[in-house]
Amino acid sequence: MRPTTTSLLAFSLLIIGIVAVTLILTLLGRIKTTQHPKFFRWAHRIAGYVFIVLYLFICVIMFQKFTSNSVALSAKDAIHAYLGIVIFPMIIAKICIVRLFKKYYLRLPVYGMIIMIAVFMTVTLSAGYFMLSTARSQYIILSEKGRLVRINVNIGRKVVQQKCSTCHSLERVFAYVKTEADWRDYVSRMRAKDPAILNNLEALEAVGYLVKNLGLDDTKMDVQLGMKIILEKCHKCHTLERVFTFKKTQAEWAQTIELMRSFDPGLLNNSEARQVNYYLSNILAKQKPES
Ligand code: HEC
Ligand code: HEC
Repeated sequence: MRPTTTSLLAFSLLIIGIVAVTLILTLLGRIKTTQHPKFFRWAHRIAGYVFIVLYLFICVIMFQKFTSNSVALSAKDAIHAYLGIVIFPMIIAKICIVRLFKKYYLRLPVYGMIIMIAVFMTVTLSAGYFMLSTARSQYIILSEKGRLVRINVNIGRKVVQQKCSTCHSLERVFAYVKTEADWRDYVSRMRAKDPAILNNLEALEAVGYLVKNLGLDDTKMDVQLGMKIILEKCHKCHTLERVFTFKKTQAEWAQTIELMRSFDPGLLNNSEARQVNYYLSNILAKQKPES
């Protein structure tokens, strides 16, 4: 289930709880006796049962969500989970008082309020936070199986930070700039190593973040990017001095790069080679000899 759906369910729970509390406070709290006490009592009871059913339903979803996740919970999620679980014994205690221990009946509104505060804290910690961060996020449109999907880049960042660091350091990831096709390829290769680590949506979110932040866009030539690729790849066989002491024409640079690629076919892919050539022929260009 998508986070938007679970957030809506959580807010529904909060609203139903508030309605139930308001109904009973209206009945018990007024100084003048309220008309139609039966209506208020029953409406409160029905809201209460709807609340319990929805609460249990959300619990089942959350349980699935947490157990399907092989990575340790973040501090925020752990607090959220504990608060959420604590609501359960409080509901049971309240039902017991209503049904069995009528002596404590007058304290019920206080117990109800305590439950509501717990619900409020639980919901705002996850769903509220989620809604706020969604509103302030960056997005990227990716195509997935012929459909265009809007991907939240901020969630993608979290996925990359949490999941891509389980087997190797994040340095390994951030050392690269790649085209969208390449990042997709990498992410699916990583998933093949441990299929349980990312679900389809998370994989797409990771790709969205990687493309947005570490993406190589052929339509946008960028000197910085060319330099980054050179710094990263061209020191494997000789020093970088070897590169930066030369000045060549565009054609000569293209030739040199082709030579380097022939030494190591995996050195640069085509779009990286274009970026490198772009950098070299702009920054290390040979001035035309004055004739
Ligand atoms: C199940 C363990 C595992 C996970 C999870 C994982 N990786 Fe990797 N990754 C590896 C291994 C093993 C290698 C080295 C072998 C290879 O390149 O296939 C590697 C290599 C890489 C490389 C290339 C490193 C190089 O020097 O060639 C990149 C980039 C990378 N991973 C990115 C990612 C990203 C992005 C994610 C998150 C979507 C991720 N990894 C998650 C195991 C993992
Ligand atoms: C697989 C090893 C390898 C890698 C990786 C490599 N080079 Fe080279 N490079 C060589 C060798 C070998 C020579 C010497 C070839 C010669 O003198 O004919 C050389 C020589 C050069 C020269 C001097 C050529 C000349 O005109 O005299 C330049 C410039 C150069 N490399 C640039 C690069 C750049 C830019 C990269 C990164 C894209 C790179 N190299 C990556 C192996 C490599």
